[in-house]
Amino acid sequence: MPVTQFEIPEKYQYQNGFDSYLESEAAPGALPIGHNSPQKPPLGLYAEKLSGTAFTAPRHENKQTWLYRILPSCAHPPFVAAESPSESLVGKDETPLEKKNKLHYIPNQLRWDPFDHESGTDFVSGLHLVAGAGDPTLKQGLGMYIYAAGKSMDQKSAFYSADGDLLVVPQEGALDIKTEFGCLLVRPMEIAVIPRGVKYRVSLVDGRPARGYALELYQGHFVLPELGPIGSNGLANARDFQAPVAAFEEDHGSTAFDGPNTYTVRTKFNNSLFETQQKHSPFDVVAWHGNYYPFKYDLGRFNTIGSISFDHPDPSIFTVLSAPSDHVGTAIADFVIFPPRWLVGEDTFRPPWYHRNTMSEFMGLIQGGYDAKKGGKGGFVPGGASLHNVMSGHGPDMDSYEGARNAELKPLKVGEGSCAFMFESCLMVGVTDWGLETCQKVQGSYSEHSWGGVKVHWNGGKKEEK
Ligand SMILES: [Fe+2]
Repeated sequence: MPVTQFEIPEKYQYQNGFDSYLESEAAPGALPIGHNSPQKPPLGLYAEKLSGTAFTAPRHENKQTWLYRILPSCAHPPFVAAESPSESLVGKDETPLEKKNKLHYIPNQLRWDPFDHESGTDFVSGLHLVAGAGDPTLKQGLGMYIYAAGKSMDQKSAFYSADGDLLVVPQEGALDIKTEFGCLLVRPMEIAVIPRGVKYRVSLVDGRPARGYALELYQGHFVLPELGPIGSNGLANARDFQAPVAAFEEDHGSTAFDGPNTYTVRTKFNNSLFETQQKHSPFDVVAWHGNYYPFKYDLGRFNTIGSISFDHPDPSIFTVLSAPSDHVGTAIADFVIFPPRWLVGEDTFRPPWYHRNTMSEFMGLIQGGYDAKKGGKGGFVPGGASLHNVMSGHGPDMDSYEGARNAELKPLKVGEGSCAFMFESCLMVGVTDWGLETCQKVQGSYSEHSWGGVKVHWNGGKKEEK
């Protein structure tokens, strides 16, 4: 059931549409008409352009937004390297390059028990790089993260990443995300995307700690997957993506460097944290228009499509968002979910088949169980994860295989109350030291536990009677 059917506080208002050209003003008349940058923008505001693509990107890829704000973003003292908070992303004795070199490329299947909750961290200091590929400086590749926040970010702070667009997948605890564009409430079973450069502040809701997964896309932007013969509707529909409406804080002095309060702005820049302190609120955007904006999506609105005859289709039919590479049909990152669905395939092995892929697959579990893996202690459980890298063989564990091999093939609803997901990438993914050691959660016996008992069913070549 969609989470968005529940009552939503009035603070959160949305406008709908994926990659739409939207506009919003929190004060009447703040948006200039027929101009982007008039000599004197309305209401004494500054015009500021935020580009998500090169100016000359083709029209169908071009992303930009015009912001009308009380003071321009450039009005801040110089950034300096942040102290302890950076340890969570880059050890303080390491340079980003050394950090990058510490990615470990491992052909084994890996699985993690649920990642720790943390009490002393906020969303930024509790953001841990688990695995990744590529390099933010080249705008190539991606990072895969776990976040665990026990407290809200300071109410006079903001964060932005210069490294990429961040897809956030809450697993426990709702996130109140205040952005320059307005506010988003993102609960488990919802996702959000915060584009590169957009400033935001994450607060916990009702003080409940939060944990989840995130994927940072160093290149390009997420798009909806092509639908091919499915037609013009299905999977995630464009109208179900929600963007905030403009909302602003008025907290400033008479110039940019004078003001009653101090705001800390942190940035992640090539996987290192920097910060500055400015005297005006970073959330001073009174109006905006454009197609480069943060958005959320309720996974319960996903229109799941599958086989109504035989065989388990490729999991690409479960793609919510895709980040294409330059090669058509090959994604730097696909975000794929396994929602509740009916299985009706006749004479079919219904769970995923055994496979080895050129793609790498990082899986997580938001809630419930997954139909190809056992839960429970040492299994695949909510808050945990698995990584099947390029050409690492995997598939159902022994019990799931035997169960599905012998199951009576009645129509069956699977995945009730459950949602597993996958970050799938065409890139070979390396695992960080934190991912392998610091969390101490890697299940050393994953392969044996899952496939050590897979039985031989080979009958010696005897012809089978129908
Ligand atoms: Fe797989």
